[in-house]
Amino acid sequence: MRLGDPPARDQLDPIERASRDELAALQLRRLQWTLGHAYENVPFYREKFDSAGVHPGDCKELGDLARFPFTTKQDLRDHYPFGMFAVPRERVARIHASSGTTGKPTVVGYTRNDVDAWAEVMARSIRASGGRPGDIVHVAYGYGLFTGGLGAHYGAERLGCTVVPVSGGMTARQVQLITDFRPRVVMVTPSYMLALLDEFEAQGLNPRESSLQIGIFGAEPWTERMRVEIEERFDVHAVDIYGLSEVMGPGVANECVETKDGLHVWEDHFYPETVDPLTGDPADAGELVFTSLTKEAMPVIRYRTRDLTRLLPGTARPAFRRMEKVTGRTDDMIILRGVNVFPTQIEELVLRTPGLSPHFQLHLTRPERLDVMTVKVEARPGLTERAAAGEALRQAVKDTVGVRVEVEVVDPETLERSVGKLKRVIDSRATRDN
Ligand code: DLL
Repeated sequence: MRLGDPPARDQLDPIERASRDELAALQLRRLQWTLGHAYENVPFYREKFDSAGVHPGDCKELGDLARFPFTTKQDLRDHYPFGMFAVPRERVARIHASSGTTGKPTVVGYTRNDVDAWAEVMARSIRASGGRPGDIVHVAYGYGLFTGGLGAHYGAERLGCTVVPVSGGMTARQVQLITDFRPRVVMVTPSYMLALLDEFEAQGLNPRESSLQIGIFGAEPWTERMRVEIEERFDVHAVDIYGLSEVMGPGVANECVETKDGLHVWEDHFYPETVDPLTGDPADAGELVFTSLTKEAMPVIRYRTRDLTRLLPGTARPAFRRMEKVTGRTDDMIILRGVNVFPTQIEELVLRTPGLSPHFQLHLTRPERLDVMTVKVEARPGLTERAAAGEALRQAVKDTVGVRVEVEVVDPETLERSVGKLKRVIDSRATRDN
């Protein structure tokens, strides 16, 4: 895999070179501003703080943040569409929204300064991934209300790249554009990258010979095994990018290509905590919670992301803590006959099983009184011993996760492909208790 040198110190943002103490001092100043801004301008926060008996003035050190109440997705829904904004609507330069599986979308807003800060953290993320000014960047995240496309776009422009704003879909044309324009960087969901891979092969092209050197993958969980799969088959560096619209969009945290050891959280803009998802108490590993530090249009205080991870000290950017790759969301966890199962655990095992492709779905049914999970997985082309491969996966799930599943090995190219975020779990149990 070809890659240039890591960025020289003088190419980094000044804060990326700061000490932990300098960063903490900046965070405290920004946190105090954010708490005051939210309290003064958003009735929801004023009422929440008042009834919890806390006031922005109580925040004297970073640890005091834990005294403030959490904010949830439901709170954002309850104030649909613009009730969480802290500035007059006329100062809102941009709206995004996340579709959500049920009910109304969650709406978020940005002032011009917010759009600017977002471009800054996205440029930083692309640079951490190995992108450089002058690179051609193929953006296949969806454009529109989803934050992926425009977030990547503004960041790549800010870094000084040539942006190709393709958005998702029309897979054959994506391959043609990559072949003709010769981008060095692709930004796309990992599941759609697999669809691009198949399309390269279907067109008789060798993906390893494409111009791509760096893939910046996020918007859904993906595993170390998936990194190996994509890196080997495409001959690229596969780097993880994380974010969520409620906090900003992509660019909240990003891996550094030189270490690929988890995602550095850009803590000068987003203050992370991890809490026990059930009790809300601080925990080493647990649900990620974010407080924005610079957002004007829609500050969020202790926002419960539902994403599960662990915070670790910084490495390639020592001042910034890292988050481990996200295991999954609290609401993606499947409880199968008393055992907790995350789709990422199954992904690791599918990719370890010779003969099985990375394309799989998890089907949940309740034929009688017990839940059954069937892993439908595509054979790799040329696999003859399907029953043996299926049995190997069944056994691996039993040994590693500790639960019995059914495995159905299906023909290549038969499961639905995602264009953006992948829907891994198909739940057709008659009643759902979660
Ligand atoms: O998915 C923003 C984004 C776009 C991130 C492009 C990265 C790249 P939402 O649609 O609001 O925003 O969904 C946010 O997606 O809470 C996670 O559950 C999941 N997610 C995002 N990035 C990752 C990742 C965008 N790298 C939700 N690993 C988050 C695992 C991720 N899950």
